[in-house]
Amino acid sequence: MSGLRGVEGACAGHNLGPGRLHKVPLKTVKVLVIGPGGREHAIVRSLLEDPNVSEVHAAPGNAGIAKLVPTHAINGNDPAAVAELAGKLEVDLVVVGPEAPLAAGVSDAVREAGIPVFGPSKAAAQLEASKAFAKEVMAEAGVPTAMARVAANAEEAADALDTFGAPHVVKDDGLAAGKGVVVTNDRAEALAHAQACFDAGGTVVIEEFLDGPEVSLFVLCDGRTTVPLSPAQDFKRIFDNDEGPNTGGMGAYTPLDWAPEGLVQEVIDRVAQPTVDEMARRGTPFVGVLYCGLALTSRGTRVIEFNARFGDPETQAVLARLKTPLGSLMLAAAKGELDTAEELRWSKESAVAVVVAAENYPDTPRTGDRITGLKKAESLEGVHIIHAGTKLDEEGKVVSAGGRVLAVVALGSDLVEARERAYDGVELVQLEGSQYRTDIAGKAARGEIKVSSGTGTIPVVKG
Ligand code: AMP
Ligand code: GLY
Repeated sequence: MSGLRGVEGACAGHNLGPGRLHKVPLKTVKVLVIGPGGREHAIVRSLLEDPNVSEVHAAPGNAGIAKLVPTHAINGNDPAAVAELAGKLEVDLVVVGPEAPLAAGVSDAVREAGIPVFGPSKAAAQLEASKAFAKEVMAEAGVPTAMARVAANAEEAADALDTFGAPHVVKDDGLAAGKGVVVTNDRAEALAHAQACFDAGGTVVIEEFLDGPEVSLFVLCDGRTTVPLSPAQDFKRIFDNDEGPNTGGMGAYTPLDWAPEGLVQEVIDRVAQPTVDEMARRGTPFVGVLYCGLALTSRGTRVIEFNARFGDPETQAVLARLKTPLGSLMLAAAKGELDTAEELRWSKESAVAVVVAAENYPDTPRTGDRITGLKKAESLEGVHIIHAGTKLDEEGKVVSAGGRVLAVVALGSDLVEARERAYDGVELVQLEGSQYRTDIAGKAARGEIKVSSGTGTIPVVKG
């Protein structure tokens, strides 16, 4: 992968006839990507492949991002600092990756500075930042989701747990990096999680358990128009067979051959578009990615959660297959012009991303260890590495700097091949104490995922 892109290769003219030389437009779009993780590395990688993108900058980035583009050591969660950097760099587009800067109002500050931004306002990002708010919007828009109650104390929590019965689902109302949700058959454990959230000054959402396989569908939004990407599946738990605590995500794959035909259109019609319409009606239009976390239950498709950003590590797999230039799509979304976007083009290949995590993740991860074998892994056919929690040490060597350290991403002619390639890459990466799941995309590759007949029939639930 090359570094900064110049204009070379973009000037080849097509001779359209006598005296008419039509020039392919020069690369014109300069982009700043905010965030430190794997999602942002994948976004930067795709932006660099967009012929319309002239230059990419990142803040703060990570070791993998720094190998590709200039990085800037600012606090990406500080709206004023991001707006100032974007102005100084004279970028044409700012892409905000993670939830924390969105919830802090980074998009608002950039937009106020007159720079197009791909990422919702603080008000619209409440769809992720507050689960109670998301439930309210879904109720208003008639979007099917789990029945839920908000609880502010132990008594209310106990009452809600008994209303829905086991398995119990207790969610911290605020942002918790994917770790605020406890799903358990143990009533005492459910109550203890609720109490921990109350003790921290928060409230919880307690809801009915949704059975069935989960799907992540990312929908690009410009405030009015919605454009779905290809659905993916994420693996949230730390251990094989979905055991152990929830994490930010330990792996992903796409596309989902087992998903019911029409699922994406159904989710647009019954989930994403009504939500975007409701946000616009409220005067807080949603611009960016609406991440629809779905359960395909025996009673139909239900929203588990909304996020206001791309998922991580699903993005690493999804963008590996996207052939439509990403920067142009993001700019169209930021400018409210998604209705003019070309139909998305996808690679026919499958993509699998396997996360390599540090020892002791998702608790307190061990950091500061050298990572080797990256070049060897990347020399495998169809394989590339996306960095997440990495940084360069004083000798310029890559060391671990976070819980989820990197993802090995592989493309293959089908899921079986993509998965084999990804795991061949994982075997070559050396990081002391590191852990990874061995079953990413396994069931899907073996054709073992079953969707019960309820899916495909979303009931109308209003109010
Ligand atoms: P969330 O942060 O809301 O996405 O929840 C994290 C994970 O917890 C989800 O990906 C599910 O695996 C699980 N989960 C959340 N809500 C439910 C539910 N109502 N029923 C079953 N599992 C759930
Ligand atoms: N992979 C789940 C998330 O990004 O929230």
